[in-house]
Amino acid sequence: MTTFPSDFVFGTATAAYQIEGAPTEDGKVASIWDTFTHTPGTIADGTTGDVACDHYHRAESDLDLMADLGVDAYRFSISWPRIQAAPGAGVTQAGIDFYSRLVDGLLARGITPAVTLYHWDLPQWADDLGGWLNRDTAQRFAEYVSLVADRLGDRVTQWMTLNEPWCSSFLGYGTGEHAPGHRSPVEPLQAAHVLNLAHGLGVQALRAAVPASARCGIVWNPSALYPASDDPADVAACRRLRAVSNDTFTEPVLRGRYAPATVEAASAFTDFGFVHDDDLATIHQPIDFVGINYYMTWRVRAPKVRDASAFSSWVGALGAEMLDETGPKTAMGWNIDPQGLTDLLVDMHTRYPEYDLIVSENGSAWDDVVSPDGQVHDAARLDYLQRHLGAVADAMAQDVPVKGYYAWSLFDNFEWAWGHSKRFGLYYTDYATQARTPKDTARWFQQFLDKRTL
Ligand code: FCB
Repeated sequence: MTTFPSDFVFGTATAAYQIEGAPTEDGKVASIWDTFTHTPGTIADGTTGDVACDHYHRAESDLDLMADLGVDAYRFSISWPRIQAAPGAGVTQAGIDFYSRLVDGLLARGITPAVTLYHWDLPQWADDLGGWLNRDTAQRFAEYVSLVADRLGDRVTQWMTLNEPWCSSFLGYGTGEHAPGHRSPVEPLQAAHVLNLAHGLGVQALRAAVPASARCGIVWNPSALYPASDDPADVAACRRLRAVSNDTFTEPVLRGRYAPATVEAASAFTDFGFVHDDDLATIHQPIDFVGINYYMTWRVRAPKVRDASAFSSWVGALGAEMLDETGPKTAMGWNIDPQGLTDLLVDMHTRYPEYDLIVSENGSAWDDVVSPDGQVHDAARLDYLQRHLGAVADAMAQDVPVKGYYAWSLFDNFEWAWGHSKRFGLYYTDYATQARTPKDTARWFQQFLDKRTL
């Protein structure tokens, strides 16, 4: 039996574009996800986030759901295009008021707000100026962070600059699966650097605006990569992929450098000429914690034959190939491997021992149905949750300072390129009526939070 420490924080997580809807209300301007989802062929089921969970209009009752669930904290993101309507514009008052009310509503219910400042919904105006390929976007981000921190910093004490910059850069500029939908082997690294810079400038802006006691961090999704065999070629391919996928973010932020292995592996498509003097010092700001999002693992091998088409992708250009895992999969087709979470936490702690860690997202999608009894019996999700909480406890038993766990997600929502076809929620969302129904997992989590014992 494991009991989590009394100061361990349990929460749920969401992101603005995935839940809010109200894309043009109260002065909100378009984001790259508004543009992307309205481009035919981008989203698996053709849906958009125009309504999503209609959370913008239902925030009060959603706060009551969370209070009922009994979570300690709520991780949500702020939509930059709700806050700033044009380059250099002042704050959009109605937009910041929405988040201010949300923060007050959380605090009134004894729930700690944990704010993500960027969860992928770049203002379209920033993309029109070059998006994450343009260094100015990092500066613009810091200006936006100041607008938010000046107004919420008196009440918010947990801040996260970026969510999963790997997705913003590699899926947004490499594979084209995410907004803004570029497909280039060269752009992801440049975008990653500008995102790293945005993080550094964002932390500086936060520190200037919020009390010293506030805690600032970043959220990554380091790929949990394992060599497909002990063949040295597979081991080396896995190392190269890790150096580019993961260390491109961790090393500059936590160590103030791009590691030699990253520079060498990435030389297939860049000479890092986009790194200016002083950038690394700016990126390497003191932070208080690192958020880890974890869902699945991959096996990596060196392709036996390098086929020409592989070179059009960045993974192929690294002389690597990612293999499908065997074993049971979730509705996303993602494998289930709690040990991967323990390994990742232990590895992060071994490499960067001075940082507290939180699991800022973890969860699973299943083809949920409402049963005739009106309930959602999601046994597979519950099993996933319990085993991954166990994996966190295992890492803590190895002295890894994990301080919190946020279940993805509070309710079913707009799952990016998959639209509404994938359900990750603890609560079931009926998109026709916007009714939220607690799934069995939510009921279990509620009871678990009473005792916090597995
Ligand atoms: C993560 C995202 C989050 C959600 C989950 C399933 O990559 O941060 O918004 O879509 O995956």
